[in-house]
Amino acid sequence: MDVPCVRVAREEGEATRRRLADADLIADGYEITVADGRLYIPVVDPDAVPDDLEVVTRDVPTRETQTTPADLLGFEPSYERLGRAALLDEDDPERARTIADAIVESDLPLETVLNKASKIKGETRVRDWELLAGEDTEVVHREYGCEFALDLAAVYFSPRLATERHRVAEQVTADEQAVDMFAGVGPFVVPFAKRGAETVGVDINETAVAYLRENARRNDVADRVTAIHGDVREVADEYVGWADRLVMNLPHSADEFLETAVSLAGDDCTIHYYDIQHEDDPFGPGERAIREAAEPQYDVAVETERVVRSYAPHELNVCLDVRLERP
Ligand SMILES: C[S@@+](CC[C@H](N)C(=O)[O-])C[C@H]1O[C@@H](n2cnc3c(N)ncnc32)[C@H](O)[C@@H]1O
Repeated sequence: MDVPCVRVAREEGEATRRRLADADLIADGYEITVADGRLYIPVVDPDAVPDDLEVVTRDVPTRETQTTPADLLGFEPSYERLGRAALLDEDDPERARTIADAIVESDLPLETVLNKASKIKGETRVRDWELLAGEDTEVVHREYGCEFALDLAAVYFSPRLATERHRVAEQVTADEQAVDMFAGVGPFVVPFAKRGAETVGVDINETAVAYLRENARRNDVADRVTAIHGDVREVADEYVGWADRLVMNLPHSADEFLETAVSLAGDDCTIHYYDIQHEDDPFGPGERAIREAAEPQYDVAVETERVVRSYAPHELNVCLDVRLERP
């Protein structure tokens, strides 16, 4: 944009900038630029510039002025972003309040601030949250081209697993049938269906299943998604021998569901089995449990062993991609 600028030799730049700033003449909405060894300092009123300085008109970029929470706090707060919500993990309520105020006051597009108020707990793996800013705990999150509505106070969801979910989704082909045995609000189911797969998602949390249906509609894949509410061990009967792919993301107790997984598996089925184990042997217990459940009905091949993230000191969240083939 063409604006009046003071042009000075580079070596005089800082002194001149200070002179102009002291006189409140700098146009803050534009960048100071350098060209051919000279500095161009945008000014608000060319007529008020002292006569010993040269004023020219120049095309300069507008300045991106975005106030961040760190600008307001004087330190970089730690939080995760989920849609328009910031998720804090602060023990000190006063510090949490100060950070929440700064986040809302900043220019970031964040209107809700939640602080973790419990660990993830119970069968549905939901945690309690303290609402520090905003109306409620519902968010709309976007991940790899899919959109997910969810209520953090009523369902499990972790944005940290986005890359892992994408890794799995990329293996899905249009002709296959997939079951997510612990589907939540659909972060595996929806991208699988987007790739053309016929997908079934089961969850024991009725609210999660309602969001799964809504998210299938939001992403235009409702025709390829069946959402079932219930304990997967009790509702799997209709899908015996049906699945080309199974997702088992219930890391602390997936082994208790392997019998059901084997009954859902078709003649050639890939299982994405999530586990949390000690770093000394993160994959061994999962592989042994799968072999025990599936052999000799199936030939079992571990295709990928992957560390998803560190879960706690010396404990890893891992995934085994395992292929079951009927001999
Ligand atoms: C760790 S979360 C995973 C959700 C989802 N796959 C994701 O990645 O966000 C586990 C889910 O399993 C569900 N769940 C727990 N026990 C279950 C069972 N017996 N049958 C079906 N779902 C169950 C919980 O309600 C929860 O939504």
